[in-house]
Amino acid sequence: MSFSLNSIRLGGKEVLPLIEGGKGVAISTGASTGPWAAAGGVGTISAVIADAYDEHGNMIPHEYMGKSRRERHDEMVDYSIKGTIDQVRKAWEISKGEGLININMLWELGGAQRILHGVLEKTKGMVSGITCGAGMPFKLGELASKYGVNYYPIVSSGRAFNLLWRRAYKNAADLLGGVVYEDPWLAGGHNGLSNAEDPNEPGDPYPRVAELRKVMRKLGLDHVPIIMAGGVWNLKEWKDWIDNKELGPIVFQFGTRPMLTKESPISDKWKKRLMSLKDGDVLLQNFSPTGFFSSALKNSFIGELVGRTDRQVEFSSEKNEEFNTELVVERKKYNVRGEDYAKAKNWLAAGYEKAMKTPDDTLIFVEPEKCAEIRKDQKDCVGCLSQCRFSSWADNEKNATGRLADPRSFCIQKTLDDVAHEGSVDNNLVFAGHNAFRFGSDPFYSNGFVPTVKQLVDRIISGD
Ligand SMILES: Cc1cc2nc3c(=O)[nH]c(=O)nc-3n(C[C@H](O)[C@H](O)[C@H](O)COP(=O)(O)O)c2cc1C
Ligand code: SF4
Repeated sequence: MSFSLNSIRLGGKEVLPLIEGGKGVAISTGASTGPWAAAGGVGTISAVIADAYDEHGNMIPHEYMGKSRRERHDEMVDYSIKGTIDQVRKAWEISKGEGLININMLWELGGAQRILHGVLEKTKGMVSGITCGAGMPFKLGELASKYGVNYYPIVSSGRAFNLLWRRAYKNAADLLGGVVYEDPWLAGGHNGLSNAEDPNEPGDPYPRVAELRKVMRKLGLDHVPIIMAGGVWNLKEWKDWIDNKELGPIVFQFGTRPMLTKESPISDKWKKRLMSLKDGDVLLQNFSPTGFFSSALKNSFIGELVGRTDRQVEFSSEKNEEFNTELVVERKKYNVRGEDYAKAKNWLAAGYEKAMKTPDDTLIFVEPEKCAEIRKDQKDCVGCLSQCRFSSWADNEKNATGRLADPRSFCIQKTLDDVAHEGSVDNNLVFAGHNAFRFGSDPFYSNGFVPTVKQLVDRIISGD
């Protein structure tokens, strides 16, 4: 079949309507986004704890020396600023001014705004725009205005965009480059499911994007592109979305597919894993310390977290009619329901000897080594988030959320940094979109073929 894809005006330039989405930590880097921009599209560098290089061009490992969480938080901010600047420069050298380079920020990262200021001050003329999701980035328009760059909020509904616009963005209207609609059921990474949405009932993206366009039209933003992200594999399947009057200008963002290219910095074992996935191997779950849902490989890491949550009982500090049975663990007394007592005894007997309290008045049962690891990770916290459910760190005056640390979650900074730097693909959080299993059946990748970024972009332009 014939398939034609027209260029689109973004960031003041004609580019292909194809974006490599931002991927942290250190996954969408200069090495992967530079060739994407060179091919005429838009590359998005993750500004979250990116990799910096020393004067010999060697990568500087992320090691934290500060004694307090606040000191380590500052080190994390410095790593992010220096690393992102280095990655932008690399992308710029590779792309030679072709296409566009954007940067991506997780709004709920601790110090997000400081990092963006630090990067944008030093990358004038190279960075075209900022994409930002996970949270409500009300300040994004104002920040972009200061540096004269475009901004691209990431939303999962027309309602969220309406709120952002009315509260903040209308004051920076001309710099709104596009609005990213990220499918909260299908996209890799963190997902913006609202409380009203059922993680098990995926919503059709078409009416949701049509609704977003309706909202934008009412606000006079008919001409501003919507960037469709999440679940986009090949564009033949999205033919009806292109040149569609109801949807208006549409750009497509890819997160998962660009991970399997020669230039992609992920490890070879990760690339191999992507090629061997089956439908259903990616799970939408809510273990992230950010409090957001996220989509990641169903591996041992996720299995262990599922186990922690399964081995859980409610307790009360006072004995009453419901919590009427006393459970003693390491000389500490808890009142639990009769039926939970037996379960807890079985877990204790099976080696899950440590009972850890959660902020929801429950206990989870873990092995002693796991308990020690959880405590160590909480202690080593580098304050990477604005609020962390796992360690109860918050980027505020008290450096604390005021809630009990939640051992059902994990340190996302530790695990994402590890997997991005040759760490285990089984024992780490490995973000992936729900379409990742298609690497195994798409003939493009047959016999283990790994394309260059240019080959992938050409393939996508062809509709496949
Ligand atoms: C490994 C991985 C990491 C990601 N990290 C981020 C991130 O840091 N910030 C962000 O806005 N989106 C992130 N995403 C989402 C992508 O930018 C993109 O929107 C999404 O993957 C598109 O859906 P797809 O996975 O179906 O291609 C990530 C996705 C993956 C697969
Ligand atoms: S414990 Fe939480 S805030 Fe601290 S480094 Fe880990 S994920 Fe970040």
